[in-house]
Amino acid sequence: MSVDVCTEFLKDASSSPELQRRMRSMTGLREIVRLGDRNGYAFDEQDLITASSVYRPEEGGAVPSSLSAATGAPQPGETSFLHHEYAIADLPGFEEVAALLPRLKIRPPSVDTAAFRAEHRDADRLSMQYSPTSAEYARWRAQVADRDAERRAFHLVNLDEHVDHPGYDDYLDAKAGVLAALDRAFGSEVRFSGSMWYPSGAYRLWHTNENQPGWRMYIIDFDAPFDGPGETSFFRYRAPGTGELVTLPERPGLVRFFRVEQEPDRLFWHCIGNPTPRDRWSFGFVVPDDWAARLAMAAGRDA
Ligand SMILES: [Fe+2]
Repeated sequence: MSVDVCTEFLKDASSSPELQRRMRSMTGLREIVRLGDRNGYAFDEQDLITASSVYRPEEGGAVPSSLSAATGAPQPGETSFLHHEYAIADLPGFEEVAALLPRLKIRPPSVDTAAFRAEHRDADRLSMQYSPTSAEYARWRAQVADRDAERRAFHLVNLDEHVDHPGYDDYLDAKAGVLAALDRAFGSEVRFSGSMWYPSGAYRLWHTNENQPGWRMYIIDFDAPFDGPGETSFFRYRAPGTGELVTLPERPGLVRFFRVEQEPDRLFWHCIGNPTPRDRWSFGFVVPDDWAARLAMAAGRDA
């Protein structure tokens, strides 16, 4: 049975540091199916979901974000909220990450860009101007059929869903290299949570990520600098507590940390827009709660 084959693969992978790092760099089920196939284990996405809901890795074993998000128990979050931004060049131990970034910033040829552009909806984009708790937002949301809401919320390209193109292997090697560098920088295991390409006009509508609480780090970069300070992509969030909308303009080589909360009154509503002619890429990671102290220690080591 291929569920057994898949379980066998997860077990074998947990004792291979190389496979573990590759697994932690993956967020798509298809990526893992392909990795299994490459290593002589034939199973499909459904087998993977079934096997991973039962299989639990040994201490320290890797379960990719896509699986732990689907099957793992959420951890209780604290209620403090913070966000921090840095230039990648200023973060200790990120030199190698910056050097690998060009190999992550891919435009898979398997993406149908004309179909992508056709999915753009002004009304959806404009919904990001309203607070997600406002009446205007509720009015817009009421016009979106539930069956379409999830698809329409993601007007972007999830790079990890594109595994059948000639550049994928190099992309995966680069992701594993980035993780190796980040593991060293944090002195702890880090994993990818999402690798997204936001072509010109792309957006990710209001959402909370409440099913994956904890600290997130995003590395954000572009194909070229913006023409001016008023013409950038943005990250917008609703400040829990005050309800204020905060819009953060972006720039090349940006590293942003924020904390996703789970308590209903602390939900971290956020959205992203790229109304510019540039290509935007964002690479998300689940990082340890004490990431700031860990980076400070790394800075001390480098000094
Ligand atoms: Fe998010």
